[in-house]
Amino acid sequence: MCGISGIAGFKNIAVPLLDSIRHLEYRGYDACGIAILGLHGIEVRKNIGSVDEVNERERLSEPDGKLGIAHTRWATHGGVTKENTHPHLSCKGDFALVHNGIISNYRELKKELIKEGHKFYSETDTEVIVHLVEKYFAPSKDTEKAFIKAIKRLEGTYAVAMITIYEKDKIFCAKKESPLVIGLGGDTNYIGSDFNAFIDYTKNAVVLDDDEYAVVSKDRYFIKNTTNGETVRKKITEIHWDSDMAKKGGYPHYMLKEIYEQPQCIINASQVDRQHIKKISDMIMESKKTYLIGVGTTYYVSLMGEYQFSSVAGIFTPAISSDEFKNLAHIDKDTLVIAISQSGETYDTLNALKYAKNKGAKTAAIVNVMGSSIARLVDLTILQGSGPEICVISTKAALSQMIILLMIALEIAVRNKRLASKNKIEIERHISNLPEIIQKVLNEKSGFIHTIAQKYSHINNWLYLGRGKYYPIALESSLKMKEVAYVHAEGMPAGFLKHGTIALIDENLYSIIFMPPKSDEDLYRLSSGSAEEIKARKGFIIGFHFGDKKESEKLFNEEIALPTVPDVIAPFLELVVAQLFAYFTAVALKRNIDKPRSLAKSVTVA
Ligand code: F6R
Repeated sequence: MCGISGIAGFKNIAVPLLDSIRHLEYRGYDACGIAILGLHGIEVRKNIGSVDEVNERERLSEPDGKLGIAHTRWATHGGVTKENTHPHLSCKGDFALVHNGIISNYRELKKELIKEGHKFYSETDTEVIVHLVEKYFAPSKDTEKAFIKAIKRLEGTYAVAMITIYEKDKIFCAKKESPLVIGLGGDTNYIGSDFNAFIDYTKNAVVLDDDEYAVVSKDRYFIKNTTNGETVRKKITEIHWDSDMAKKGGYPHYMLKEIYEQPQCIINASQVDRQHIKKISDMIMESKKTYLIGVGTTYYVSLMGEYQFSSVAGIFTPAISSDEFKNLAHIDKDTLVIAISQSGETYDTLNALKYAKNKGAKTAAIVNVMGSSIARLVDLTILQGSGPEICVISTKAALSQMIILLMIALEIAVRNKRLASKNKIEIERHISNLPEIIQKVLNEKSGFIHTIAQKYSHINNWLYLGRGKYYPIALESSLKMKEVAYVHAEGMPAGFLKHGTIALIDENLYSIIFMPPKSDEDLYRLSSGSAEEIKARKGFIIGFHFGDKKESEKLFNEEIALPTVPDVIAPFLELVVAQLFAYFTAVALKRNIDKPRSLAKSVTVA
């Protein structure tokens, strides 16, 4: 949801600055721009389109200068136009500023500034900030003071970075509820919305907290509290991600690369710190109620957790979509809220956690990004170790989160005496076999899945059906189809179908059913019943199922048959197939796979 970056260096920084927004493009790709301080003042180059498109038109790496800021935009206030693209300049062009977040009181501020003679060029909320700085600089001629005065007037959320002609070696930045990190490179320092902005140059970073600001020069920086001006000392975090991990590595799209990384991600997920699994299990056992929260994919992951905790551990832990949390949850000090978030920055989830914390609840989170806002807010963080997920669509992070939730459910099941330790070991063995099984399916089935996806890529409406644990899998799979292929897919419990939606079924409606293995006898029988209901009404149905092709001939019009696996890991295998099915459909439809329209990787607005 907008990426910001900045570099203070000892030589020309235009090329690394351009690289930094290439690495941040997954946060926003409506438009991008740079501002570089050169000999003759600040030069801004910006336009709408992808970083490469804008670079081709505006030649972003051309300007000379050792200090600069840059931005990739995901539009919130104002359309996708050149004028609305960041950086924004003050009236005289003395200050340039980029921003991620939403300034909720910008209308009042804009009115005030226009009255005082400031001229606005964009419809953005951001532009008020740079004019505010200009206003406060005029009497004092002190940039830091003017910057802080301006920041204090802002309501809403922000990560802001600013340069000025009056301080030739300084980037001024501040943060509230939108992420901001400083990268320490020795003789060159960086700022970014996340580590990806500078991971090619340094692995040492300092994470800013809310209501802090920093002034960053090439070989120095300081951080202060915005409210009281006191200096804040912070520890340096070492980033474990490799810059190669964030590159495509020969795959045509990050989405495909990340789908193929899932075997390794499962290994990483099953090796998370055992003490953390034990600690979160203690927290669940000690709480009177536990909620699982997330949004979009992570809500479906939470729902999968709800099924796993119920069936394996025998406890009811409702999943709530973070955006609805306040409307639904009952919080007190005996409540535990577990958040699931890849980015650790999602506004709705962060907000729900803060609400729960204020009411005295304990909090924990499974996140992929160390140092993220959610990771720093909660009482206990489990880092899932999936590596950078660059494609806007979540695949590997979601599967890893499901595995970690299953591991927690197993731990509690033993403590609840629902599972003997030896059976837990047996299930853990099945989980440890999953990477190899997924690898085999990816190797052997992806060609076939590609063919099927292409064959049905003209279909505009799908029903995705599953019972039990296959229901969250159906929901998550349908979301993949919607977001990457822009094809409508409705996920629902297969048993729910007959209570209304079945009226839609005729030869023009296509369905996918997520079948359990036959060993799950009741669920298999019931799911087969749902498939029969569709066939009886001439509906077209593709079965994702385990086992023999022949036996299922009567049940499905088309099928993707998978090797028979133990019940506990079966849903994960079908999820991988559904991810590939969505991916290949999107390829056939020539969609913008890694950056689908209207989506952003990290949704930091309400
Ligand atoms: C879907 C997707 C989104 C995110 C959601 C939460 O593929 O990526 O639905 O899952 O916006 O984001 P995080 O996990 O970063 O909190």
